[in-house]
Amino acid sequence: MTELKRAGTHDDGDICVNFSSNPHIDDIIHARNSRRQILGGMAAVAGLFGLSACDSDGGEPQSNVTVSAGAAATTTTGKNVNLMGTATNATSVQWVQVSGPTVTLTNPNTNNASFIAPAVATSTPLVFAFTSPGNNNQLAIASTTVTVNPATLDFTAVPKLLNDVVTVPAGYTVSVLYALGDPIAPGVPAFGNQGNDTNFAQRAGDHHDGMYFFGLSAAGTRDDSANGRGILCINHENVTEQYLHAGGTLTVVGGARTSQVEVDREIECHGVGIIEVSRGTTGTWAYSQTSTFNRRITPNTPMAINGPARGSAQMRTLYSPTGVAGRGTVNNCANGYAPWGTYLTCEENWAGYFNRATGDNASRPAKVSQAFTRYGVAGGPVAGLNWGTLVVSDPAETKYRKWNASAIAGQPADGTGDFRNEPNQYGWVVEIDPYDPASTPRKRTALGRLAHEGAWPANFVAGRPPVYYMGDDSRGEYFYKFVSATPWDAADALRTDRLAVGDKYLDNGTIYVARFDATGQGVWIPLVFGTGVLTAANTLYSFESQADVLINARLAGDAVGATKMDRPEWCSVNPANGEVYLTLTNSNAAFRPLAGTDAANPRHYNDPRGATNTAQTGNPNGHIIRLRETGDNPVALTFQWDIYLFGAGSDLNANINLSGLDATNDFASPDGLWFGRPTNPSGQINPLLWIQTDDGSFTDQTNNQMLLALPGRVGDGAARTITNTDVGGATRQQATFVGKTPGLTLKRFLVGPRNAEITGIDSTPDGRTVFVNIQHPGEGGPTATPSSNWPTSQSGAGNNARPRSATIVITKNDGGVVGL
Ligand code: FEO
Ligand code: CA
Ligand code: CA
Ligand code: CA
Repeated sequence: MTELKRAGTHDDGDICVNFSSNPHIDDIIHARNSRRQILGGMAAVAGLFGLSACDSDGGEPQSNVTVSAGAAATTTTGKNVNLMGTATNATSVQWVQVSGPTVTLTNPNTNNASFIAPAVATSTPLVFAFTSPGNNNQLAIASTTVTVNPATLDFTAVPKLLNDVVTVPAGYTVSVLYALGDPIAPGVPAFGNQGNDTNFAQRAGDHHDGMYFFGLSAAGTRDDSANGRGILCINHENVTEQYLHAGGTLTVVGGARTSQVEVDREIECHGVGIIEVSRGTTGTWAYSQTSTFNRRITPNTPMAINGPARGSAQMRTLYSPTGVAGRGTVNNCANGYAPWGTYLTCEENWAGYFNRATGDNASRPAKVSQAFTRYGVAGGPVAGLNWGTLVVSDPAETKYRKWNASAIAGQPADGTGDFRNEPNQYGWVVEIDPYDPASTPRKRTALGRLAHEGAWPANFVAGRPPVYYMGDDSRGEYFYKFVSATPWDAADALRTDRLAVGDKYLDNGTIYVARFDATGQGVWIPLVFGTGVLTAANTLYSFESQADVLINARLAGDAVGATKMDRPEWCSVNPANGEVYLTLTNSNAAFRPLAGTDAANPRHYNDPRGATNTAQTGNPNGHIIRLRETGDNPVALTFQWDIYLFGAGSDLNANINLSGLDATNDFASPDGLWFGRPTNPSGQINPLLWIQTDDGSFTDQTNNQMLLALPGRVGDGAARTITNTDVGGATRQQATFVGKTPGLTLKRFLVGPRNAEITGIDSTPDGRTVFVNIQHPGEGGPTATPSSNWPTSQSGAGNNARPRSATIVITKNDGGVVGL
């Protein structure tokens, strides 16, 4: 075996290794790498340059070049590591990795190369050689070892705050990228923000929510690995009318909306924004006002109805008498994506946009009224925006009256003369091709009709059927998964007819609803017409077809005995092990009384709020449940579950603060949930979990926040029986399964401005740029003196500016992976 010697001593081998100022040969020898591997690597390095051996003992001349590779170092996963070489008399230098998990070196032909420390499960040495060719056909080589330790949450937790800025830990930078009203087409004037702006079909909408980054190459084509240019798809869930209109209120006369300008503004502020963004030479991100990719999808945008409910009698409207098309998407909350390069936007609280005449039930079949009531489209006045009450002079203009779901006297009972069936066109997952601005989005009815929070993918493995996990966000609703009928063909990922690929995988399959049993096991129950109780003979609701089952998935869930959950919000899949996490944002005593807890929704308690100790009862702080599919197979019909985390103030007792939270990580009402992308260390081996809050119960102590976690695994805690206590002092025992106490694996990373929700997150594939949405700052505040002036307040005094929902960019000042 070749012996390595220190500088100036004999080397009998094939390569002349100059360790002149490198004291680390012993480190290398004692590192976990085998010496043979290192030496072999060095030989390969020499071979790379085609240079010959030297043998100083044999009297051959020494190289005139000397190099040093710098001191050994220790770091952790995700860090940006700088290699600091020095060279004397060198005409060129090069860094080469010799051993350890392969990394990509930046600026390898300079003295100071860098790389991102890879994800590792245990302490792992990486050896790098710094080389320079000298005279006499000899190569000077020095090496250094960087030992990478597993990921940690290596930042100081942000304290609970009530101020009016976005706060992130030291070492990170926040900038505002894209705010309500920003123009996204050439010639559209800058946003005035006094409530008089129009044409939001060419401006940023309101209430930024779920989001996904789609990469673009320098040439402007799809590039899934691009980190500096891309398309952001951003949901715009709702509006804050106090700041959207000049007077801050809706103009209503005799119970009807009368201002078309106001209604147009509100409608166009909903939907989805598709905008091109890029990182400039100084590292600052900006959106392009003039990009041809820019597009707004609003509640007016034409849509296709796809899947089993396409053409159903229940989908027929005056706009589409055959029930195959519709207009618009609304209340777009969380999201998903498809690996063929499309965005999935999810229609959540769409029911509140529809009005029906008082007494409309009497003019409809009882079954229709039952179904509408189950989804919250009850007859009578609604508290919503009531677009359907606006009357315009053109009788052919139906984009307003489609929001009136009443059966109009004299129109056909099949619904082709009015919009009595229009509510059935909402509550779907909608697929959008962000790379084709002319494409028509498709509503994927095979995934069921819910208050769809999000749709998160799993099981994109060749030959296996893709799976989507989906929450239905309302108190007492269910958790679902969709299993495609079509096994995944990886070649489809790069097809350019993206929506046709969506047809292939998302229009046929089976949806299942979850039952969480007291044993800690669970069952996925298929919702298939004609199977089990889902037949015309069902006494709860007479199911007619698979389309009927999908349109009324909630009724199907009721019929099969699914578990009523504390508001299923976002879900996310751990990219390293496939475990599925689901936020259950909160519930109240009406839905979760003392006698109404179960193992999966185990808490009933009072969390008194504010100086007045106002009672908040039920499960006001929410929890995060997780499941492991049997055999780690996403198509399994059974699973094991436990509760990863319980929201709670750290001042609450141990029967409430079951996760042992402290001042660095206490929170309530988890909502947004997202694992780091598997294309970078934040999504590998022990991935980062991002938790965003949409809270009203804990906002006496802090504004809404975002936490970072390194969660363990299902079953890492223990069975536990807790004692619930109601506001009157009565108690009841409840058994459940509690995950391991998080301790330092959960930290508060961000606190938002006043009266804002933190929701929506994605990163570039390298994890070094994270995009986050700040929704409805100043919500509920007065128009003349807003309760938040964000984002104006981010850079100093707020100047009484009206607040704006916005997308922010978070980067780490040293260029590392955000959060690690
Ligand atoms: Fe739009 Fe369930 O939050
Ligand atoms: Ca949400
Ligand atoms: Ca929410
Ligand atoms: Ca919201």
